[in-house]
Amino acid sequence: MEFRTIIEPFRIQSVAPLKMTTAQHRREAVAAAGYNLFNLHAEDVLIDLLTDSGTGAMSRDQWAAIQHGDESYAGSPSFDIFRTAVQDLFPFKHVIPTHQGRAAEKILFTVLGGSEKTIPSNTHFDTTRANIEYTGAEATDLVIAEGRDPASQHPFKGNMDIAALDAYLTRNAGKVPVVMMTITNNSGGGQPVSLGNLREVRAVCDKHGVPLFLDACRFAENAWFIRQREPGQQGRAVADIVRDMAALADGMTMSAKKDPMGNIGGWLALNDDAIAEQCRNLLILTEGFPTYGGLAGRDLEALAQGLKEVVDHDYLRYRIRSTAYLGEALLQSGIPVVQPIGGHAVYLDARALLPHIPPLQYPGQALAVALYEAGGIRGCEIGTVMFGRHPDGSETPAALDLVRLAIPRRTYTQSHIDYVIEVCQQVGANAKALRGYRIVAEPKQLRHFTARFEPLAG
Ligand code: F0G
Repeated sequence: MEFRTIIEPFRIQSVAPLKMTTAQHRREAVAAAGYNLFNLHAEDVLIDLLTDSGTGAMSRDQWAAIQHGDESYAGSPSFDIFRTAVQDLFPFKHVIPTHQGRAAEKILFTVLGGSEKTIPSNTHFDTTRANIEYTGAEATDLVIAEGRDPASQHPFKGNMDIAALDAYLTRNAGKVPVVMMTITNNSGGGQPVSLGNLREVRAVCDKHGVPLFLDACRFAENAWFIRQREPGQQGRAVADIVRDMAALADGMTMSAKKDPMGNIGGWLALNDDAIAEQCRNLLILTEGFPTYGGLAGRDLEALAQGLKEVVDHDYLRYRIRSTAYLGEALLQSGIPVVQPIGGHAVYLDARALLPHIPPLQYPGQALAVALYEAGGIRGCEIGTVMFGRHPDGSETPAALDLVRLAIPRRTYTQSHIDYVIEVCQQVGANAKALRGYRIVAEPKQLRHFTARFEPLAG
């Protein structure tokens, strides 16, 4: 590369307007929303970093593929195009389309879960954990110790603790139907898993005779990190690295709203014929016929095209660099963030930035609301609001109080991100003036989606 600036490797062909709002309007909007950013009208949000899931921009060629969609109930050629694209990267024998990732999880764990079962992962995503627990099984996270330390610079903080997994499989012999690996590790900060670690996980699974499945939502970002950071992987094609990851697994669940660049979609893929048959039968009950699952033919075509685009090196270089650009600028401004910067999001350490707000007064919520009021930026609290409440009604601080700024794919330009940086700097400079919150109404489960808050007096 001759020049330092990494540009967006696309030009804009279709645009959607952003509604400019005043600080006064935003203060009123967020108060009316009970200080819960999930309750806002999206039109009142200027830069929406709530999630990278389904919120990205599709390409010209994906929109063209949509026109090609065939909506036959059974045997649609769009399914063949989709399956071929999936198997090109993940050559599993059976490919079962679902409407999104959690539908694949629901089907898989309905077949494999149940009381007396226990399922380990580096870190289960919330829906994965919830779908496992719903069957009566237990979900356990066994990420390496560095993965729990926001300041650790370990290059693969998503790795599984191999010794812990080995001991776990010995202790729970006969009770573990599958080992999961989340790549990248979303709940742990968008951190990658190395090929070396996946190989070791595979070896431990073989030793205990347990299958290995990938929760592969951000597989291309993970493969790019492997190419950048893992000895011996430089110069390889990302698609080949993805195939290496797939070859180590027996199956996968997928949210195609992430790296496959879709606005909706997912799949379950696996090699075992008997399990696949049970999964297909459940699919027909809840999602649809096996050649469309929960999707329209046009969606299947858009995803097939997205899978080709996401392993492009120019795209991935820009994607990972632009996330790091935001994270590095915040660090330079003295705003603490989880390091190294992950693939799809920057995680602000609200507890470190707001030491005067105790965890049970929700520093992550205070920071997320402040970013919205100051600049119309919507992030997502990942902390005591999300994880602090327990089924017995008690409340304790979560391990960390973070605010995730997730970057939708190909959606915002560098000037949008420069604006985000400026807003964060302003909020950071006024950090001492921020106050905590109390919850005035909350549901029994998953309270972060609907709870209402009140600011505490200064
Ligand atoms: N697994 C991981 C690692 C995820 O990040 C998600 C979704 C899912 C599974 C479930 O997929 O939403 O298609 O049903 N993560 C989104 C997020 C919601 O904002 O991180 P889904």
